[in-house]
Order: sequence, then C-alpha cells, then structure tokens
Amino acid sequence: MAVEVVVGAQWGDEGKGKVVDFYSEDAEIVARFNGGDNAGHTIMFGANEFKFHLLPAGIVRKGVTAVIGNGVVINPEVLLRELADLEAKGIRGYKLFISERAQVILPYHLVLDGLEESAKGGMKAGTTKRGIGPAYSDKVARFGITMGDLLDADLLKQKLEVAIAVKKKLTAAYGQEQDFQFKKIFDTYYEMGQKLKKHIRNTSSLLVQAIQRKKSVLLEGAQGTLLDPDHGTYPYVTSSNAVAGAGAIGSGIGPRAIDWVVGVTKAYTTRVGEGPFTTELKDDIGIHIRKVGNEYGTTTGRPRRCGWLDLVALGHAVDVNGLDALAVTKLDVLGGLRRINVAVAYRVDGERTTIFPANINRLARAEPVYKELDGWEAQSPAEWTSMAKRGFSHLPSAAQEYLEYVCGELGVPIELVSLGPSREATIDLRDELREGPAQRP
Ligand code: GDP
Ligand code: IMO
Ligand code: MG
Repeated sequence: MAVEVVVGAQWGDEGKGKVVDFYSEDAEIVARFNGGDNAGHTIMFGANEFKFHLLPAGIVRKGVTAVIGNGVVINPEVLLRELADLEAKGIRGYKLFISERAQVILPYHLVLDGLEESAKGGMKAGTTKRGIGPAYSDKVARFGITMGDLLDADLLKQKLEVAIAVKKKLTAAYGQEQDFQFKKIFDTYYEMGQKLKKHIRNTSSLLVQAIQRKKSVLLEGAQGTLLDPDHGTYPYVTSSNAVAGAGAIGSGIGPRAIDWVVGVTKAYTTRVGEGPFTTELKDDIGIHIRKVGNEYGTTTGRPRRCGWLDLVALGHAVDVNGLDALAVTKLDVLGGLRRINVAVAYRVDGERTTIFPANINRLARAEPVYKELDGWEAQSPAEWTSMAKRGFSHLPSAAQEYLEYVCGELGVPIELVSLGPSREATIDLRDELREGPAQRP
C-alpha cells in the first residue's frame, strides 16, 4: 500500500495520463493536485480514447475514487462539460470529489490571460489562454473565489463584487475596458456550483483518512518540471508548481505521506509554447518525430516542438522531484532513426556544464553536447505491443542499450517503458524494482 506521485519530468505531455491510467489499476484514489484545464491527459483502452483536462485520469477505472485537490484551478464550465462527455461515453457510477478549497477560474481570468500575454510581447509564455495564470495570481493576491464559495451566496456576492470592481480597473489599464456584469456572472457561477454541489467537500480529510486506512493513493501531476514556476524555465512556465512536493500541498496531505515519486519522460523531448529548448530539432528529424509521435497539443492543437532527450534537464528533474523511478514513454516513436543523440552536457559561454542554468538568457545561449547512440528499426504498433507482452529483453538490443544508458547516467531506475498509447503496449518493471514502503499492494 503506498502513496505515489506521478509527475512530468520535462515540459509536459510526457504521457502522464497513460501512466496514471496504467498505475490506477492498483489505486483506490487518484487525485489531481495542480494546474487546471491547461492540462490535456490522454488515455486509451480498447477503442476508447479520453482526453481529460480537469478530471483525474483514474476516473475511468471502476472502484477508483477521483479527487480534484485544493491546488487545482477549476473552470466549472469545462468540468461540467467533461463530466457530460464522460457519461456520453458510457462511464457512469464514478466517484468524484472536488476540494472546497480549489480556486475557480472566472470569465475575467480568461480575458486577462490574453491581455497579459499581449502586454508581454516577446516575453509571452504562449499560454493555453485558459485563465490559469490570472486565477493563480488571484489566489496569492487574495482575490480568489473557491469552489466552496460558489455554494455560499452571501460570500460569493461579497467576493465577486470586490473582484469585478478591481478587474474592471485592471482591464481598463490594459487599454481594453470590459463591462463584467456582476449579476450574470453571479447567477451563472452560483448555478454551476449547485450542479457540482454533491461533489464538493473537504478532500484533504478524505485523503488523510484513506492513507491512515492504508489505501493506495495516486497523485496525478499536470504539466512538468520544466514548466514549474520555481524550478522550470521561468518566466516561460505555467503558474502552479508541477514538482512532486506540490503533490502534498495541492492535495492536503503531509509530505511524509508520499512513499514513491515517479517521473514520466518521453524517450525524446517536446515543448509547446515559448521559451528556450536546448535540444530542439528544427530539421527533418524534428519534423519526423512530430509526425510519427503525433506531437500536437492535446489542449490547444498547437504543433509541439520536438528534440533529443536532454539529460541535463532530466537530471535537474531527478533532483528537484527526488525521483525514485522513471517511466519512459514513446520509445516506439524513435524506431527507424539510424542514430540517436542524447544531450549529456551544455556548452555555455565557453564552459561545459551539467547544471541546468536558471538564467533564461544563459539557457537560451546553451549548446547541447551530444552522445551519439545506435538507433533501432521501426516496428508496427502490433509488433511493439507484442514485444511489450514478451518483456524488456525482447526489445531491439539498441533500444535496451538506450534505456540502460539513460538510467545509468541519471542514476535512477526505469520502472515502466511505454511502446504505444494503449495499456497493452507497456512493459511494467515495478515488481522487479520496488522494495520497502512503496511495495506494490
Ligand atoms: P500528458 O499530458 O503527459 O498526459 O500527455 P498527453 O496525453 O498530452 O500526450 C501524450 C500523447 O502520447 C497522447 O496522445 C498519448 O496517447 C500518446 N502516448 C502515450 N504513451 C505513448 C507511447 O508510448 N507511444 C506512443 N506512440 N504514444 C504514446
Ligand atoms: P499537461 O498536463 C504542455 C504550457 C503552455 C505555455 C505555458 C504556460 O498536458 O502536460 P498556461 O496556460 O499554463 O499559463 O501556459 O505552459 N503548458 C503546457 N504544456 N503540457 C501541459 O499540460 C501544459 N500546461 C501548460 O503551452 O507554454
Ligand atoms: Mg498533455
């Protein structure tokens, strides 16, 4: 029985949804703890594909309780739509609890997301325009409205009046006066609160009690380490902490309750949005990886920038998350490339370094130092799935060497290898690897 946190070790879209879905077979509770509907987590089983923005990926597993923790920012309209989609796809009888402390994304957050980005010009992050940054800004500036507030008409009125007055001034200062209508917003959000009422509660106590009863809990990270505002490529980041430590804060459990931290990484690297990307490939190989890996954003549909695996950035993710293990996804996508590069260091301002630079301009000047490895043959999805069934030693030998090289350099074991979007295309090495408190139930 264990509490595990699954985080992105790169710039998001590492395949966290697939990994969480796979792991949630053993879980009683799956909880989101950060981000909002900027996330897009894809899961596939049988002929079904689900793309979740707010709902935890574990919700499709029978018997799993899904939790949206206090650290998440919620657009209730998106959440209601996602629940309706779920029911339309035949998933009923699910259990969902939403933290009364989770912050609400309001219409003015969406407007401000656009205005702030325009004002930043060349320094814009290329956000998903879901109001994420403005909602987290309001939380910290104490203008925020929580999911619990939606159920209290007096408190909602009090808070909304103040917030709307301030947002009108703010949008005017950006040169775009907005007439946010108190009554319309109040009525809409109060009504959505009523629709979600049965799900809203204290989720921290739910999780803490489950942990005391030795239930297995999976904390599902959104975004990735390099998009974390403290540890990522600031200011080209998102607005909530995406590292493992946020798993405790954003779900309302103590840090010592977490037994095991898994970092999900692709076998290469992608990024959506702006900001430095040292191993980015702007050539035919980058285009090839985008095509084979279908690298288009789950939330915005934007083409993802593609590049080689970066062990400097991943080493940083190992450190700031305290990773116990890695889950490596999309190994299949690299099939067919004759040679594969992995960045082992950066050269910046005439110096070689293996430390991920904090200064964004220094990072933008960094050149990758590559180790070249042998590639392996392309296979059909059916062949990859069949290899997954037969196990690690049946992978092409160059693919095995690639994975062994990566975990050797990082000093962290690989406990899962993904060879396709489906559950079947997965090599599960957890039983061989895990000992101690995180032993599998
Ligand atoms: P997340 O945000 O980390 O959950 O990742 P996304 O769902 O945004 O993006 C990952 C994409 O890769 C999804 O379309 C998955 O279905 C797909 N995927 C996950 N694992 C694999 C894999 O091992 N191979 C391939 N080819 N696709 C994968
Ligand atoms: P998942 O959970 C990839 C990126 C945006 C932008 C920056 C800030 O699917 O891995 P925001 O809207 O959060 O203010 O945008 O962060 N970004 C993501 N990139 N995957 C995500 O989520 C992301 N969520 C935000 O592209 O560069
Ligand atoms: Mg995604």
